[in-house]
Amino acid sequence: MPEEEGDIFSNLAPGYEGVAEFYDLFADNSDIPFYLKYAKRTGSPILDLAGGTGRVAFALAEAGFEVTVLDSSPSMLTVARKKLDRLSNDIAKRVTLIEGKMEHFDIPQEFALIIIPNSFGHALTMDDQIATLRCIKSHLQMEGLFILDLFVGEQQYAHALFEDAPIPIENNQTVERHGEITSDANRKLMRVEICYIIKKADGSIVDTIKITSGAALLFKQDVDSLLQLSGFDIIEELGGFHEESYNEESGRRILTLKRSGKNSGEGD
Ligand SMILES: C[S@@+](CC[C@H](N)C(=O)[O-])C[C@H]1O[C@@H](n2cnc3c(N)ncnc32)[C@H](O)[C@@H]1O
Repeated sequence: MPEEEGDIFSNLAPGYEGVAEFYDLFADNSDIPFYLKYAKRTGSPILDLAGGTGRVAFALAEAGFEVTVLDSSPSMLTVARKKLDRLSNDIAKRVTLIEGKMEHFDIPQEFALIIIPNSFGHALTMDDQIATLRCIKSHLQMEGLFILDLFVGEQQYAHALFEDAPIPIENNQTVERHGEITSDANRKLMRVEICYIIKKADGSIVDTIKITSGAALLFKQDVDSLLQLSGFDIIEELGGFHEESYNEESGRRILTLKRSGKNSGEGD
């Protein structure tokens, strides 16, 4: 679609530069035990695609798994590197950090488990989604497992505001986050605007950082077609990280997948 003036859904690049240091503070870690459980089934090596600050990857490495993190954001990877430097050598040597795009990566290794926590929606177009899935398939061992964790497109509001409570940071300061989400079901896109406000203990504002980010709205039927086209079969369809069954009201759709028996998709 051509870019129109005032079109809030144009230029929806992922917005992590300049705010990566705050990412882990606001993250929901309830997915980590889930990924650990599947890692115990598959073993290493594991690819954490769009792995960001290594939030999930470091938990896996601490549990003994070898993990490669691929992410496109230099800022997120800088945070990951700082975390890596603080780990013991034993754990750190199990983690590899790579800057790259999930749509086009080429790592000379096949993985027993590939995960993509909170991130597949950053492939905004159907072409990028297919490219990502095909790249994943070509890096997955024949009997490997791929876990695709999705926010359900059908469940997203057209417009929503959110506000997170202040969190203490260094220098006796706090950071708080205010956001606005706007979705367009026809264009299958979501725009997220987040304002980070850093305050001193007396409440005065030190800095305000605004970012805009975009994600695809991923509807069930579209995802199922993409997966079929890309050569994946669904093993399990879950509605949350406690392995609850998926239903039409689930906010999350978590799929465990294997390479399909048929020779569909490229990059086999
Ligand atoms: C919501 S964060 C999730 C980070 C991490 N997976 C987690 O759950 O903590 C999304 C991540 O996707 C990365 N990302 C966005 N588009 C990407 C792309 N095309 N290729 C690789 N990484 C991408 C961002 O840099 C960011 O680190």
